[in-house]
Amino acid sequence: MNEEQRLASQQIKQPKEEKDYSKYFEKVFTAPSLKDAKKRGKEEVKYHKDFDIEEKYLGMGQDRKFYIRTYGCQMNEHDTEVMAGIFMQLGYTPTEMIEEADVVLLNTCAIRENAENKVFGELGFLLKYKRKNPEMLIGVCGCMSQEESVVNKILKQYQHVDMVFGTHNIHRLPNILHDAYMSKEMVVEVWSKEGDVIENLPKKRIGSIKAWVNIMYGCDKFCTYCIVPYTRGKERSRRPEEIIQEVRELAAQGYKEIMLLGQNVNAYGKDFDDIEYRLGDLMDELRKIDIPRIRFTTSHPRDFDDHLIKVLAKGGNLVDHIHLPVQSGSNEILKIMARKYTREHFLQLVDKIKAAIPGVTLTTDIIVGYPNETEEQFQETLDLYRQVGFDMAFTYIYSPREGTPAAKMVDNVTEEEKKDRLHRLNAVVSEYSAKALKGLEGQTVEVLVEGSSKRRDDVLAGYTRKNRLVNFKADPKFIGKLVNVKILEAKSYSLMGEFVEEVTKEGEFVK
Ligand code: 5AD
Ligand code: SF4
Repeated sequence: MNEEQRLASQQIKQPKEEKDYSKYFEKVFTAPSLKDAKKRGKEEVKYHKDFDIEEKYLGMGQDRKFYIRTYGCQMNEHDTEVMAGIFMQLGYTPTEMIEEADVVLLNTCAIRENAENKVFGELGFLLKYKRKNPEMLIGVCGCMSQEESVVNKILKQYQHVDMVFGTHNIHRLPNILHDAYMSKEMVVEVWSKEGDVIENLPKKRIGSIKAWVNIMYGCDKFCTYCIVPYTRGKERSRRPEEIIQEVRELAAQGYKEIMLLGQNVNAYGKDFDDIEYRLGDLMDELRKIDIPRIRFTTSHPRDFDDHLIKVLAKGGNLVDHIHLPVQSGSNEILKIMARKYTREHFLQLVDKIKAAIPGVTLTTDIIVGYPNETEEQFQETLDLYRQVGFDMAFTYIYSPREGTPAAKMVDNVTEEEKKDRLHRLNAVVSEYSAKALKGLEGQTVEVLVEGSSKRRDDVLAGYTRKNRLVNFKADPKFIGKLVNVKILEAKSYSLMGEFVEEVTKEGEFVK
C-alpha cells in the first residue's frame, strides 16, 4: 500500500464491530440515580408479549431452595409472586425457613424510614446465616434498591449481600442469579430508567381465593413527600386486552376476588396515545366477567372522573368500597404536598360518589405532622374526617425521604407533637370504625370465606364486600365460598356473626 492508498483507506470508515465485553467483567454494576429516575423520558414504553427464560438457566435451581421476605404494599406482594414464579421455573423450591434457604431475597419498601430500618435490621441478622452457610446468596430488591443512598450503604456496610436489583428489572432475576453465582463481588443491577411492560411473567400466587392483577406501573404525580415516582418510574399502563384476559383466566381457575393494582390506578390509560381508554372503560369490561368481586387500589382524587363513578354505580361485581387517600384536610398542607386538589374539591368528589353509589364505604390514607403543620391545620384534617365519615384509615406520621422536595423543608413540629396528633387522629378513626361496625349488628352480610381465624380452627374468617373482617362458626368446607352471615356483635375492628347460608349463583341457598 503506497502512502496515497494508506491515506485514502484511513478516510473510509470501517464498520465498527459491536463487541460484547460483558463477559470480561467480573461483576455487573449499574447503580441507581434518583436524579435520573425523576426524568420522565419521551421514549415509548415497549410491550413484550412473552417472557422466556434462556435455556442455559433452566435447572439452575435444582436442589436449591429460595426464601423471599416481602415488606410494604400489595404491589410488592405481587412482585414477590412473580419472582417466586421465576424461581420455580428455574427449578428452585420454596421454603419458609431462612436457615435452609440457598437464596434469600428481601423485597423492600422505601415509603417511610421505619420500613427501611426494618430491612437494615434484617440484613444485619442475615449475616449470622451467611456465616453458617457461606454459599447462601442474599439479595435486596424492591423500592429501597432504587435509592442511591441505600445502595451506597449496602456496598459499604453490608458486604455479605450478593445482589441488589430494582423494581424495573425483576424479569432479569435469572441473569442476576447467574451473575451472583459467578461473581465474587456484589452484583448491582438497578435501572433508573423505568422498564418496559412485560407480559406473561410466571406467577406463583399465594392464595387461591383472591388474586392481584397489575393494571399499571409507576406514578407521575410527584407528591412532595413521596418517594414512589422515583422508585417505580413513570406511569405505564398494561393494555386492556391483556388485563381482561388475565382476569378471565383467574375467574376460570376459581378465584373469587380480584384486586387491581397500581400506584395511581385511576391514571390508568392516560399514557395510551393510540386509544382513548381509561379506568372506567376497563371496569365496564371487567364487570361482565363472571367473578364475584373486583376492587382496585390505590386511587388519587384528582383522577377520579365522572365516567368511572358512573361505571362503579352499576355495581354487580364492582364492590361499593373505595379507598381514596386524602392525606390532609388543610388547603395549605394539600398545596405544599402538591396534591393538586383542595379540601372543597375532595368534599365535592365525595358527595358525587355518595350520590351515585348509595351506602358506599370510603377509606383513606392520612399523613400527620407534615413540615410546619399547625394545630389548626391538623384540626381541619380531623374535621374533614368527620365530615366524610370514613369507615377506616391508614394513618402515618410524615417521614422525610431523601431526594423528595419535602425532605428539604424546614420543620418546626416536634416529634412529640407529631405522635400526639397521630394518637388523636387514631382515636377519631377508631370511633368512626366502631360506629360503622355497630350499625351492622343484626344485619346479614355477604362474606368471602378465606380460612379459619388465627386463634381458633372452628371459627372461620372472611371479608365483606366493603372489606370488613367477619368471624363466625361454620364448617371449613365453606372456605373459598361466599356465604351469608348474620352479624351478632361488633368488636373494635371486626365483626362476630352467625352462619346463615352459602350464596350460590343459581340463587339456591345451602345451609
Ligand atoms: N411519610 C409518611 N407517609 C407517607 N406516605 C407516602 N409517603 C409518605 C411519607 N414520606 C403514605 C401516604 C400514602 C401511603 C401509601 O403512604 O399516605 O397514601
Ligand atoms: Fe406517592 Fe401516591 Fe402521590 Fe404517587 S399519587 S406520588 S404514589 S402519594
